[in-house]
Parts: sequence; structure tokens; C-alpha cells
Amino acid sequence: MSLQSMADHEVHEEETFDPDDWTALTQLAHRMVEDMMNHLTTVRERPAWQPLPDDVKARFIQPLPLEPRNREHVYQEFCRDILPYLRGNTHPRFWAWVEGTGTPFGVLAEMLAATLNSNVSFGEQAPVYVELQVLDWCKQMLGYAAEASGLLVSGGAEANLVGLAVARNAKANFDVAHDGLRMASQPLTLYGSTETHSVLQKAVELLGLGSNSLRKIPVDGDYRIDLKILRRTIAEDRERGERPFCVIGNAGTVNTGAIDDLAALADVAREEDLWFHIDGALGALAALAPKLRPLLKGMERADSLAFDLHKWMSVPYEAGCILIKNATQHHRTFSTSGAYIAHVQRGVAGGPIWFSEYGVQLSRSFKALKVWMMLKEQGIEKFARLIQQNVDQAKYLAALIEARPELELLAPVSLNVVCFRFISEALSESELNELNEEILMRLHEGGIAIPSYTMLQGRYAIRVAIVNHRSRRADFDRLVEEVINHARVVQRERDLDKP
Ligand SMILES: Cc1ncc(COP(=O)(O)O)c(C=O)c1O
Repeated sequence: MSLQSMADHEVHEEETFDPDDWTALTQLAHRMVEDMMNHLTTVRERPAWQPLPDDVKARFIQPLPLEPRNREHVYQEFCRDILPYLRGNTHPRFWAWVEGTGTPFGVLAEMLAATLNSNVSFGEQAPVYVELQVLDWCKQMLGYAAEASGLLVSGGAEANLVGLAVARNAKANFDVAHDGLRMASQPLTLYGSTETHSVLQKAVELLGLGSNSLRKIPVDGDYRIDLKILRRTIAEDRERGERPFCVIGNAGTVNTGAIDDLAALADVAREEDLWFHIDGALGALAALAPKLRPLLKGMERADSLAFDLHKWMSVPYEAGCILIKNATQHHRTFSTSGAYIAHVQRGVAGGPIWFSEYGVQLSRSFKALKVWMMLKEQGIEKFARLIQQNVDQAKYLAALIEARPELELLAPVSLNVVCFRFISEALSESELNELNEEILMRLHEGGIAIPSYTMLQGRYAIRVAIVNHRSRRADFDRLVEEVINHARVVQRERDLDKP
């Protein structure tokens, strides 16, 4: 372009996303922090959940914004349409699925991480060293091998996917990464109990193994994998010409919190030359509490250990972790090359590790910061006490249930999950299922408490999974009373409806 044509070229004022008025934005930021801290300090005063009104839902179906809106207005929309309509997992009476509560300091750590906007894929930058530090702490927390490699990931689902990917590649007797599963001379099979979480099946499907290759082994009366049937199934598969390559242990099943006999599974894995993977998303962190640690004996023998930090550690979403004992196998499974990401020794692209070569993501957020800050803020002993507190609360709730003839425990309480139901001799099993579902819906819709549900041996269970640092014993007293009161109300309504 000649100088003349450059001069002729229309020059627009150059733009940025930064505000014109930093002072006004800073004032808004202060108010947001105050509002959010206030939101957390008053959480108990609000309903545990409330449905979204139709007019609010309608406001989520709007044209793409073309012109700028006032920031104040955008924030008011957030306060009006988003803030009140959440799933409820910061509330003291939220015990559904397995959802962490988060912490106020975690909120601030998230803000700091967003400010830095770090991409923690690699590089000579502090965030990489923070993640390495956090991974080392995770190993220490769980008594896992110091030489293991690891990665912070989005959660349990991804952690299990990474673990099983390494297991598959390490134990197949051919180069899966290069040749693909079409080169398998024998079908690969793996084993886990019927209580194994569905994310592992999803991982098996994504890894091209087919859900059929995941043998679902029955459980005993305590919902732990039946070791005899496991051994028999492995032997039968070998006879049929299949290639068993991995056994999955559950450190806390999603339904009942059952912990498989991990030491026995480690023995099976050694004898059968299998990879031993543990899904500890729900319960691995119980190892922090001295009284609970013995339940997890054998966990340290796993070849790969998946667990969550956004559940029992209360780290704000998302944060999970995978640890792999054989760092070389881990790296081999996920490392690929490209001139644009070639390793160098100097400058910004130096640094001690390329995390992007240990998992699915290339670009990665600075998840490690919130874990690092929360561990420093609270100290590990506090986490251990809170985990023990939740298990004690589960036992307390179980005792309340056992003391009431109208209620029935549906599974042993080994950790932090309590499954129970209202019972009445006058009702059939299917009527009891319907009644208990109705009770649960009324607890939710009344904003009283948020347990979730499952089916155990054909019975509808009200399921309370406690990873909540805000719950108090009085919350469980109230739950029991509310379940019984709602059951009576529903029964009365149904009696009145009868002709
Ligand atoms: C036992 C178990 N495994 C895996 C998962 C999946 O974890 P995430 O939801 O963090 O992906 C869960 C989730 O509740 C779980 O309870």
C-alpha cells in the first residue's frame, strides 16, 4: 500500500474490551463481591430450590445482542434471572447426587484466576509450578506414589476417561495409539461392579471398546463387588479368547457410597496382570480422615486413581484429578507433536512440563489456583475434620431413620450416603415407590431439602449424599420430620381422592 493510499484509507478509532471508565467498573466489582458474599451468608434463609417462572425462562430466548448494554443493567439481569434459580448446592440442605458446596475463598480464587486468564498447557510460568505443587499435595493426601504423574481435569468423568485411556494403551499388546483397535487380535475386556458409575461406561464407549466389553460384576449385600464372580468371569473370558486388561474398583459408589475391597482387587489385578483403576470421585478423599482411612486400604496400589476436588473438597466447579503411577505410560497415551508446539528449553515456552501431553485438552484453565489457595487457607486437617463430620452426619441420619418405624434404611451406611424410604404395611411395593417419589418432589418443590433418588432392588430410595460443609444435625432432624409429615399429607390426599 502506497503512503497516499494509506492516507486515503479510512482510519477507525481502534477499540478494546477494556472499559472507558475503570473507576466505575471497579465500583461495580466491589459491589458484586459484596453482593456475592451477602448471597452466601444468607443462603440458609432462602429456599433450597425454586423453579424458574415462565417470564424468566422467556427472557433466556432473546435475539443476539448487537449493541452494547449498560454493565449495570447486565448485572441486574444476572441478579434477577440467574442468581435465584440455581440447583441449590450451596444450600445447607442440599444432598443430591454428589455436589460440592464451594467456599467463599474459592470464589475469590476463581476471580483471581480469571483475571490472570492463564493458559496452563505448558510454559515457564508460575501457574505450571502451582499445578505441580497441587498434584504433589494430592498424592500426599491420598498416600499415593510420589513418582506418579497427574493432571487436574474437569471432574470425575474426565479423570476416569484419562485413566482408562492409559489403561487401554498400556495393557493392549499392540500399539493402540498408532494402529487403532482394528489391530486387536483379541477383544479387550474390563471389569467393574454393577454399581460402577455410568461415566465409566461412557469412557469405555468413547475409547472404542464397546460397552459390552465392560463386564458388570454383581455386588454383595453391602453393594461391594463380588470377588468370586469377578475371578470366575475373568477366567471364562480368557477361555473364550478375550483379553482382560483392567479391573475398576469403586472408592465410594454413587448409589450407596460402598467401597469395594480395594486390597483384594489389587491382588486380583496383580495375579491376572490387569491394570487396576479406581474411581474415587465420591470417596477417595475419605482417606484424609484417620478413622476412615482403613476403609480405603489398597487404594495406594491402583495404577490409576480418579477423584474429584469439586465434591468433598468443596473446590468451586470444576476440579477433578487423575493420578497415574506410571508417568511414562501416561505421557505416551496423550503426547502428540507439531512444530507449533515443539518443546524448547528457553523463553516462555520452556518450563518443567507440558500438561497438554497428559490429557485431552491443549488449552487449560488455572484450576490449580483455587485448590492451592483453599488448601493454604484451611489446612488439610480442617478438610479431614469436615469429611469426618459428613460421615458422622450420615450415621446420625441413619440412626434417626432406624428410630422411626415409618422409615426404612435401604442400604448399609458405610460412608456419607444414606438411602431410605417411608414405609407403610397398607401399601404395595409399587405404591410405596410412587409415594416416596411424591414425597421427594414435594421436598424439592417446597424448597425444603434436596436429596436425590435412586432405585435399589426395585425400591425407590430417597438418597442423601452428604458432602456439604454447611449442613448441621438439625437439618437432618428436619428432613426426617418433613418426610414423615409429607407422607401423611400425601396419603390423606389420596384417601380423600378414593371414590
Ligand atoms: C462415583 C462417581 N464417579 C464418577 C462421577 C462423575 O464425576 P463428575 O460429575 O465430577 O464428572 C461421579 C459423580 O457424581 C460419581 O459419584
